[in-house]
Amino acid sequence: MNAESFFPKNIKAALHNNPPGEWIPSVPTNAIRLHSGYPAPQLVPSKELKEAVAQLLDEENDLPLHYIGSPRIDKLKEWVRLRQGVRGMPAKVEELLITAGACQGIDLIARIFLDKDAVVVVESPTYMEALEIFQNYTDQIITVPIDKNGLHTEHLAKMLAERKQIGLTMPSFLYTIPTFHNPTGTTMSEDRRGHVLELAEEYDFLVLEDDAYGELGFTDNPNTLKSMDTKDRVLYVGSLSKVVAPGMRIGWVHATVKFIHALFWFKKDLEHPFAQATMATLLENTDFTSRLQTLSKNYKEKCQVMLDALEKYLPEDAEWFVPGGGYFVWVKLPGIDTEKLLTDAMKEGVSFLPGKYFFLDQTEGIEYLRLSFSYENEEGILKGIQKLGKVVSSSLN
Ligand SMILES: Cc1ncc(COP(=O)(O)O)c(C=O)c1O
Repeated sequence: MNAESFFPKNIKAALHNNPPGEWIPSVPTNAIRLHSGYPAPQLVPSKELKEAVAQLLDEENDLPLHYIGSPRIDKLKEWVRLRQGVRGMPAKVEELLITAGACQGIDLIARIFLDKDAVVVVESPTYMEALEIFQNYTDQIITVPIDKNGLHTEHLAKMLAERKQIGLTMPSFLYTIPTFHNPTGTTMSEDRRGHVLELAEEYDFLVLEDDAYGELGFTDNPNTLKSMDTKDRVLYVGSLSKVVAPGMRIGWVHATVKFIHALFWFKKDLEHPFAQATMATLLENTDFTSRLQTLSKNYKEKCQVMLDALEKYLPEDAEWFVPGGGYFVWVKLPGIDTEKLLTDAMKEGVSFLPGKYFFLDQTEGIEYLRLSFSYENEEGILKGIQKLGKVVSSSLN
C-alpha cells in the first residue's frame, strides 16, 4: 500500500515541509536552559491548580468531566470578556472563542482564511510555530523586516503598493506580534500601529494580532492593535500560557461575530472543558493584577541580569535589542554561525535557539540567536551567559 497516495494534494505539500518542532534542540537535562519560552517554574501556580481541581470536583462532582462540562466554562469566557474590557477591548460574548491555546486560534484562523493561493504576510523574524502553521496551508508567505520599533511599516506599504500595481494577489492577512515580540523582544511603536491599521483599510486585509506576551511589560503595556481598531480589521489572539501555565492550553480569539462563527464551525469541541473549568476556578481565587505585578517584577529583574551579563561576557561587536517586557533577548553575533555555536554551547552546558529558525529564508538568521530569561533563575542566567561568552570567544579564535 502506498500511504502517500491517500493524502490529498494540499496535505502532501504540507508534509514536505520540515517536521513541526524539528528545530527544538535536544538539550542535556543538566544544561542551563536559555532556549525555551517557558514560564519560571516557581511562578507556575501548581499548588493553586491542585486546589482548584479539588474544589471543582468537590463542588461539581462529575459535571466538569462530561462533554458539555461545567458552568464554569461560561465563567472563564466571562473572565476573558472582562479582561479584554479592562485592556480597552470591550467584547460581547459572541465575539469571543476560547481555544486550546493561542496556537489553536492561529491554526483556526489560517484554516478559514488561507488556501494554497492565499497570501499571508509575517514579520521577519517571527514566531516559528505560527510560520509552521501558515506553511501547512499556503506557500505564499511574504516577510517584512522588524527593527527596534517593531514591524517596518514603510516596507509593508511599499510591498503592498508594488503588488497592487503589478496585479499580484493581495494578502489575506498580516500576522504580527506587536508587543514584546517573539523572538526579538521588540515592541511596535504607536505610530506604526496606526500605520498598520491604515494599510489594512487601504489594501483591504485583516490583521492577526498575537498578544501572547502583551501583559508582561516591565513598566507598562502598550495599547493593543485591537484596542485601536475602529474598522473590525483585527483578529486578536490571547493566551494564558505565559501568565499562568502553558500546559493548561487556554487561549482565545476576539473578533467580529461573523469570524467567530466561522472559527467555531471548525473548532467544534476540540478543546478541553475540564482544563477550562479548572482555569476558571483558579482565576476565581486569584488576584490577577497582583499576579501580573509579581511576574513583571521577576522577569524585569532577570532580564536586567541577562543584559548586564551580555555586556560583560560577549564581544564588543555583539548587538541586542533591550526588551520592554516578555521573555526574550535577541542577539546578533557578527561572523558567527549560531547553529554551529549551539553544539559547542551544549557541550559547555548552556542552550539557546539559533536565530535561523525564526526566518522564512533561514540564511537570514545565521548570525542571530534567541535567549530566554523567563525560565532560569538569576544565578542560572549569569552562569549561562558566562558559558555562552566562553564558547563565543573560542569560536572566534
Ligand atoms: C508569539 C507566541 N504566540 C503564541 C504562543 C503559544 O501560545 P499558546 O501556548 O497559548 O498556544 C507562543 C509561545 O511560545 C508565542 O511565543
